[in-house]
Amino acid sequence: MSLKPHGGTLVNRMLTGPEREEALAAAGSLPGLILDDWEISDLELIANGAFSPLRGFMKREDYESVVSRMRLADNTVWSIPVVLDVTPREADKLEQGSPAALYSGEKELLGLLQVEEVFEYSREREALNVYRTMDRAHPGVKRVFQRGPYLVGGEITLLNKRRVRQFPEMFLDPAETRRIFQERGWKRIVAFQTRNPIHRAHEYLQKCALEICDGLFINPLVGETKGDDIPAAVRLECYRTLLALYYPAERTFISAFPAAMRYAGPREAIFHALVRKNYGATHFIVGRDHAGVGNYYGTYEAQLIFEEFEPEELGITPLFFEHSFYCRECRGMASAKTCPHTQASHVILSGTRVREMLAAGLTPPEEFTRKEVADILIRYYAQRAAGQL
Ligand code: ADX
Repeated sequence: MSLKPHGGTLVNRMLTGPEREEALAAAGSLPGLILDDWEISDLELIANGAFSPLRGFMKREDYESVVSRMRLADNTVWSIPVVLDVTPREADKLEQGSPAALYSGEKELLGLLQVEEVFEYSREREALNVYRTMDRAHPGVKRVFQRGPYLVGGEITLLNKRRVRQFPEMFLDPAETRRIFQERGWKRIVAFQTRNPIHRAHEYLQKCALEICDGLFINPLVGETKGDDIPAAVRLECYRTLLALYYPAERTFISAFPAAMRYAGPREAIFHALVRKNYGATHFIVGRDHAGVGNYYGTYEAQLIFEEFEPEELGITPLFFEHSFYCRECRGMASAKTCPHTQASHVILSGTRVREMLAAGLTPPEEFTRKEVADILIRYYAQRAAGQL
């Protein structure tokens, strides 16, 4: 399998040297837009090529095409809109065909946007097509309805990367992970997306996949997540601990995926797979209810959606896994596919139940979460309850 990035070339919109100096000098006199955390992460992921072939925030043609048929206007598969919204007042300041400067909330200059188009869009259509619901209780849909009435599209350049305060060594660009995989001589590289601590079911999926691949690329999403998900820094500590104790160092690699979580289920599974191709993976794990939230998506909808595309259009091979658990009769990890016993023998806990246990200082069964991970999580909940976080 080839390691070609999506669309053929790894995009690099990070300016350096004199070009950057020039842009920095010019930025002060340009109209400015303030980006929130979600938009900043999109900006950086466009710039470093994780979102290849995107070179900027989507213009109308790409946006409409992605919303309605999961493809960019040129037919390249792409399932999630990557957009920058503006208020009417902000839109008034912008001039089509001219650059705008992009800032963080703390007024740090981040990059430039070549304003090519400012356009109206239908939030309802985006919610229904991308998230399959209009329910504003859905975190992705909520975000869509919080946006301003216009989107601004155009190519971006990145001038300053946001400073990462915790685990900065985990934040690698696709060019770097690709180089590392090559140095390690891995040909078949399976990527794993997660927004959670690694429980035994996750570990089972990863290790099954590693049996048929050369390398395991754990790529936890560490951008914005909904309030009750465990914060990225705590999860990164869990991953570190677990990897040191239970994973083969020469066949495992971990780095952070600093994107916002959309909770778009099936569509996000496609997006997650394409992006991991850009980071250099050849295979991608999709388990049960991938990127789901609540009961908006069927358990295996995020697997079925892959049938809508030809394998060569995706260029990364999905590895599908059934719901996995520990079975007391089998005395090992198993799945709906491999276990002949009834649910009574299965150790299955809902996310809510696990959170409740950890918050109460209770260690979930070892068959569900390894003790070293549970200890870190219990400590986190205790600190949070004591108002120390
Ligand atoms: S996700 O939102 O990032 O998908 P999560 O971190 O829970 O959520 O899951 C990471 C990956 O593991 C996804 O592919 C998901 O489908 C899969 N997964 C999680 N738990 C299980 C399980 N018990 N059985 C099978 N697959 C699972």
